[in-house]
Amino acid sequence: MPSIAVSARRGAPEETDADTRVVALFEGEVPSDPTVRALADAGEAKHAHGKVAVGHEDSGAGRRRVLVAGLGKREVLDHEKARVAAASVASRARDLGARSLSWAAPEGAGIPEGLVEGTILSLYSFRRFKSSTPSEDEDTESTLTSLEIASNQDVAEPVERARVSADAQNAARDLQNLPSNVATPAFLAERAIEVAAESDALTVEVLGREEIESMGMEAFAAVARGADTEPKLIVLRYEGGGSGPVLGFVGKAVTFDTGGISIKPSAKMQEMKFDMSGGAAVIESLGAIARLGLAARIVAVVPATENMPSGHAMKPGDIVTAKNGKTIEINNTDAEGRLVLADALAYCVEQGAERLIDLATLTGAIIIALGSTYAGLFSNDDAWYGEVEAACLATGELGWRLPLHPEYLELTKGQYADLTNASDQRKASSIYAAEFLRQFVDDKPWVHVDIAGTAWGLGRPYVGSGASGYGVRTLVELARRAGG
Ligand code: BES
Ligand code: MN
Ligand code: ZN
Repeated sequence: MPSIAVSARRGAPEETDADTRVVALFEGEVPSDPTVRALADAGEAKHAHGKVAVGHEDSGAGRRRVLVAGLGKREVLDHEKARVAAASVASRARDLGARSLSWAAPEGAGIPEGLVEGTILSLYSFRRFKSSTPSEDEDTESTLTSLEIASNQDVAEPVERARVSADAQNAARDLQNLPSNVATPAFLAERAIEVAAESDALTVEVLGREEIESMGMEAFAAVARGADTEPKLIVLRYEGGGSGPVLGFVGKAVTFDTGGISIKPSAKMQEMKFDMSGGAAVIESLGAIARLGLAARIVAVVPATENMPSGHAMKPGDIVTAKNGKTIEINNTDAEGRLVLADALAYCVEQGAERLIDLATLTGAIIIALGSTYAGLFSNDDAWYGEVEAACLATGELGWRLPLHPEYLELTKGQYADLTNASDQRKASSIYAAEFLRQFVDDKPWVHVDIAGTAWGLGRPYVGSGASGYGVRTLVELARRAGG
């Protein structure tokens, strides 16, 4: 997926070579720029956040387009508002056939990043299975090839970091959008191998069905058993140095979740190609972290499999022993995410992870609880939780903490085995899942992120309602913070 070239320039915004420059208009402020003032006086340019007006000026090198972006009140401008405004500007610039864009960045922490992310994320489209050329339908293909952030500060580092993160997020969206007949576990493994090949600091290991079974990952193997497609346990290691603890990133990658023998209803079942969104975010975030050369050490584990009904599929009531020795009664084959994650988390700990975070489209109930605004966060450690929450806030990938409690833990006890993967009670379904996972992290600080509501259908202007790549920015930010 070719992205646009992104650069930072220190100096006067109007000294740009771009064919289109963008100027912010704030509520209650009289613009000093004459082109902007004329548009504002004429009532064309509006200060309301998200509005975009179009004007022209003579630049010396010819006529140039000026977009005036309403940004609301200056005091409340933040990175999220910058992302949203950049998305409005980018779509207007695309409609106008602009080739190069130069944003005069307002001052403020996170603003350059927001402008870059909003532009790159909003220009994303997934058209590889469309045989029509874009001009034949209502979508106009972007002609934008470059974005410049003009600032009176040196913003080169945040601009580059935002570009790398946003490109990685778009790459995760590609993996999400690919249908399950293309994005198989082996395909995800190939992508991880490709990402690892880019950097000496990354190594990758891929285990197949036999190794998964022989290593005692019976819970993961049980889910994979119903599928003819070979499962893969994808392990990426990043050695970027730094003195922080070894981070463990785990991402659920069920490439298609039919529910198995406890089969799902057919309405919207096609969305279950997105059940690998956590794994996609983990794989692509490691690529971004390596490209940025962040000082961190990470072990990333992505259990990838389909969840299918078949003659060799796991059946309700089956009992398996997970990697850490705990026995699990599988009472609902559709609660497969916690089974694959149980072994992946235990493996990640075994591989040396000291702080864990897992991303998983785990429960429908989290959509009922939090919609698509916040992901559900769960943790056994307040300090590590605080770090993850801070990273979420810094990147605008919102998360809200839900409680764990011994009474919820009690619900996960099995009748015949140590645990059951689902109870008939249907109480606190998202917390139940988290309590289940908690028993596989060996008391290491851990945060579980339930992204069932945020992996797609977010509806923010810069990602729309399709695949969102949620989690990539947070994981990159965590790695950055690990380096101090
Ligand atoms: N992948 C689903 C969760 C999901 C549902 C994600 C809808 C996004 C949208 C998960 O494997 C699942 O089926 N969970 C069940 C668990 C239940 C059987 C205990 C659920 O949430 O219904
Ligand atoms: Mn399921
Ligand atoms: Zn699932």
